[in-house]
Amino acid sequence: MSHLSNVWFKVTDLEVATGRGCRVTTVSGHDYLDFAAGIAVNSTGHCHPKVTAAIAAQAERFIHAQANVYTHDLLETLASKLDDITPPSIDTFFFANSGAEITEAAVKLAKQATGRPNTIVFQGSFHGRTHMAMAMTTSKTIYRAGHEPLPGGVHIAQFPDPLASDQEATIAASLKAFDGLLATRSAPSDTACVILEPVLGEGGYVPAPRAFVEGIVERCREHGILFIADEVQSGFGRTGEWFALDRFDIEPDIICMAKGIASGFPLSALGTRRELDDLWPTGSHGGTYGGNPIGCAAAIATIEVMSEPGFMDNVRSRGTQLRDGLSELKEHHPGLRQVRGPGLMVASTFEDRERVPHVLAHCLREGRLILMNAGTHGDIIRWMPPLVVTADEIDEAVGAFAAALRATA
Ligand SMILES: Cc1ncc(COP(=O)(O)O)c(C=O)c1O
Repeated sequence: MSHLSNVWFKVTDLEVATGRGCRVTTVSGHDYLDFAAGIAVNSTGHCHPKVTAAIAAQAERFIHAQANVYTHDLLETLASKLDDITPPSIDTFFFANSGAEITEAAVKLAKQATGRPNTIVFQGSFHGRTHMAMAMTTSKTIYRAGHEPLPGGVHIAQFPDPLASDQEATIAASLKAFDGLLATRSAPSDTACVILEPVLGEGGYVPAPRAFVEGIVERCREHGILFIADEVQSGFGRTGEWFALDRFDIEPDIICMAKGIASGFPLSALGTRRELDDLWPTGSHGGTYGGNPIGCAAAIATIEVMSEPGFMDNVRSRGTQLRDGLSELKEHHPGLRQVRGPGLMVASTFEDRERVPHVLAHCLREGRLILMNAGTHGDIIRWMPPLVVTADEIDEAVGAFAAALRATA
């Protein structure tokens, strides 16, 4: 009898023993190409030698150096590296362990800094599974059902429909609906923040269009509402830039980072500017493990690896190769509806959602390829390999996917 909880939804029944680069090996010795990457976490691949060396070295020095009790030497080092790679508006950092903790922290900071109670989120977003994060999450009811009542003060705004044939019209309609929300449900004077995923993650790898983000930011600036970028999934090179918003040159007031930041070691970070952080009363937020020295060492090594020449170029060119490969398949498989997403945050959507589990199962069984779905109806397959993926591995994965399309046609 297993002593493990049933609450984990299982994507595969693989029992893994080791991982290296883009592959994991099961206890029975079979290799799989891992295009789930720990849900967009293993940014430098499994067990990158520079990351494991940094973790091992730090474990000899300090495993836990609690941030309230003393200050260990990697906190400032990591903050300074983050200062270099985050947008210019961001210069001050707080650390926690997971994405949900950091989106909650961002909203707490926004409430303290503005003295306002409300938060605006977007339809289809996912910000985590703690109570406030659940209240901010609308990508699927399974995350919320049975957990009500959730905290109040969260208002849901419209996100442009990626399948709409007239993109300009859907963006304009979404911005108009946002204005309506401010006029009828959450007055600007009651609205602390807007939190946006620049590319919806769990909601189906939907890139927020530039004009939409610019329109939202403009409204935030006009009304003194803080603009929070949840880059937990889209950050750390996933889109071929350090952060997805870099493509738009938009500077958030607060940025949420996790997942890829430490190549799999649990660490998350909130970035903001000093004047805002100064409005966050000392002692009003914290946490036992935030800023763990091993996590910091893993994050510093991760940033160093990602800063090596050619790293981001690889993300961009492998992303192009992947999208081209999938788009070509779309020509021959009308059931494939849309291929989208920047860098290695790519979605392939299906006309028939019933087909998706069969495609995934075929990829796993015959192609030894691990892929995951996303989206409200699970009708989207998302491609989020480690960012060190090679051209051959992309070809192998697209080949396995093509075979699955043929087998399920
Ligand atoms: C955009 C975004 N925010 C927050 C979270 C929550 O992160 P965690 O699962 O580490 O709590 C996720 C997780 O998928 C995410 O994609």
